[in-house]
Amino acid sequence: MARITAGVGCSHVPAIGVAMDTKITDQPYWKPVFDGFEFSRKWMKENKPDVIFLVYNDHCTAFDASCIPTFALGAAAEFQPADEGWGPRPVPVVKNHQKLASHIAQSLILDEFDMTIMNEMEVDHGLTVPLSVMFGEVSPEDEWPCLVIPLAVNVVQYPAPTGNRCYQLGKAVRRAIESYPVDLNVMVFGTGGMSHQLQYKRAGLINREWDQRFLDLLTEDPVFASQIPHVEYLREAGSEGVEMVMWHVMRGALDDEVKEVHRHYHVPASNTAVGHIILENVAA
Ligand code: DHB
Ligand code: FE
Repeated sequence: MARITAGVGCSHVPAIGVAMDTKITDQPYWKPVFDGFEFSRKWMKENKPDVIFLVYNDHCTAFDASCIPTFALGAAAEFQPADEGWGPRPVPVVKNHQKLASHIAQSLILDEFDMTIMNEMEVDHGLTVPLSVMFGEVSPEDEWPCLVIPLAVNVVQYPAPTGNRCYQLGKAVRRAIESYPVDLNVMVFGTGGMSHQLQYKRAGLINREWDQRFLDLLTEDPVFASQIPHVEYLREAGSEGVEMVMWHVMRGALDDEVKEVHRHYHVPASNTAVGHIILENVAA
């Protein structure tokens, strides 16, 4: 059967993708951001997933105010990198494991999580930047090293789902994956965050202490972490800090006790605190 072996938490920032695409990652501003992913790239090679279940948010690319699904599962054969204003990123098309995605859709919906099913969708920096930092540069003519099942979560337009709903969804994702009768090494990514606010008077807000506490709680006390209310993200981590609810889907899909094998935290990257964590399912 398919097994979830590990979870990865990882921020996204469009400028991180641009830094890789324009080959300036060695510049003093960017080097410390990317140094923190060197361990991760080795670890990805050693632990080679067959499939990544990648929880991310769309930024008014595939969706806009005309249609706001809370949870949208990618079921298409592939997902093209979107043009977010500077042309599509020069990275490979993202290929799905369509059979597993369909199985997950069926399992989640019968488990009473009512997913929107996307049979056509372009993906933005929310999905491609975490893949880039974890795998390194991959030419658009090559393939990503594994298949990817995208789950887009609405954190752009209130009401976003609660941390608890995301955590419970993670548990349902685990039930779905573990009932797929083919041996597969599956990793779950929770992306977005950490603290950042892109708008109005508190634009530029960063809260290192709160971010570090979030990472501690995520590893050690995921149930407590899942109960953090929206207003706390807003107050402590800024208006875009609510992206962090997506990390609870990842955490919910793992064992209650996990081994934290890597952590990276760096400020600044554009307007955002970059946070990254790798959690292994010890039993796996
Ligand atoms: C930035 C961060 C984001 O989460 C995002 O979606 C866009 C931009 C930034 O820090 O520039
Ligand atoms: Fe974002």
